[in-house]
Amino acid sequence: MERTMIGDIGRMDGKSVRLKGWIYRTRSGKGISFVVMRDPTGIVQCVVKEGTKGFSDAQKALIESSVELTGKVRKDERAPGGYEVQATDFSVVGFADDFPIKEQQSPELLLDNRHLWVRSQKLLRIFKVRSTILGAIHEYFRKNGFYEIQSPSITKMACEGGSTLFEMKYFGEKAYLTQSWQLHAEALAASLEKIYCIAPSFRAEKSRTRHHLAEYWHAEAEVAWIDHDESLRIQEGLVTHIVRECMKKHRSELKELGADMKALESVKAPFRRITYKETLELLNKKGTKTKWGDDITDLQIRTLSEDFKKPFFITNWPKSMRPFYMLENPKDKKTVLNADLIAPGESGGEIIGGSARESDPRKILAKLKEEGTDPANYGWYMDIRRFGSFPHAGFGMGVERLTQWICNVDHIRDCIAFPRTISRVYP
Ligand code: 4AD
Ligand code: MG
Repeated sequence: MERTMIGDIGRMDGKSVRLKGWIYRTRSGKGISFVVMRDPTGIVQCVVKEGTKGFSDAQKALIESSVELTGKVRKDERAPGGYEVQATDFSVVGFADDFPIKEQQSPELLLDNRHLWVRSQKLLRIFKVRSTILGAIHEYFRKNGFYEIQSPSITKMACEGGSTLFEMKYFGEKAYLTQSWQLHAEALAASLEKIYCIAPSFRAEKSRTRHHLAEYWHAEAEVAWIDHDESLRIQEGLVTHIVRECMKKHRSELKELGADMKALESVKAPFRRITYKETLELLNKKGTKTKWGDDITDLQIRTLSEDFKKPFFITNWPKSMRPFYMLENPKDKKTVLNADLIAPGESGGEIIGGSARESDPRKILAKLKEEGTDPANYGWYMDIRRFGSFPHAGFGMGVERLTQWICNVDHIRDCIAFPRTISRVYP
């Protein structure tokens, strides 16, 4: 008999099915066992009665044992999912030891046992949404004429400043794990023009926040011949498409995770744009003391969320706060043509950073020196300006940040299967 996935059981009322999965919960009494099984598509209660083949194993098997069974599907209002399976043949494929994760465990224990905790319903739901998010990113870019391109993970260059670089020995010379594909992407934009990539980026973040990973998945795009406004339109189109796909496919997962369904429903391009300067004014009006050059904190984003229910762009940040490659604002040389896309709410924060790119090599060199970066390794990057410079813009979106906001997850580490943070590189 072919295997039935638990999620399809509703269509099999009265019929015989064969299930494979793991024991999610189990309770045995005299002459009867209630074994709740799980597979990726759902959970279902199976009843194994004395006299059924495999009954004694059903009585012995602990949670997370892997099992196979055949049985008859019966509607039962009281059962989780509304159906129950009356087993006719039950067998344990792999007996589980006493599972180390019980109810109400500390976050540390769950992280130490991440390789087992990935089986939990919570992480399963997040991983499903994450998979849809990644698919939707590819769909959006490919539908809009972008080529997918890859760039090296090992590099000689800092893209986002030296303080978060992971240093490595590279056959006797110093190299780094990349913070972003961007610098190489700028070279490739002179070839394919509209390009994107989804790859890991690395940040030696010394901060322990709910929003920082040391290794995260970065969805980045770079486009030739566009200005920054056009880049913002691509970004809001991308986020709108992703949220829509998630709402289409994962209503039940998102509800279970406690996502703000109304807020997600309302996500639709265009998003509001507010300058950095206006943001400070707004915050100060709300009683927060901020001044030019201050970063916008998590707490302040929550304050702003009272006014912004949808993601919004904070544009034109001070040049002094942003990296060397950002295009100086011709109307206000203190600022650059850039934006952070901010997702509102408790689980929100900066989900995209992007800008138009500076094409004046003198300005790039001056800024590199100001950052304390040795321009020696940036020779090839300068060549992009020397050989047919062109206007271009791009952005990078943190896949886990986006997942965290959409699913309303408290900590970013639950948005990736095996998180890498300042205090964790195991398992
Ligand atoms: O704002 P960032 O540093 O921008 C760049 O790397 C540009 N080079 C992107 C580009 O223009 N191609 O990073 C982009 C995004 C952030 O908005 C955030 O979503 C995510 O990457 N991000 C992180 N996500 C998780 N953990 C971290 N430590 C992150 N740092 C950045
Ligand atoms: Mg940023």
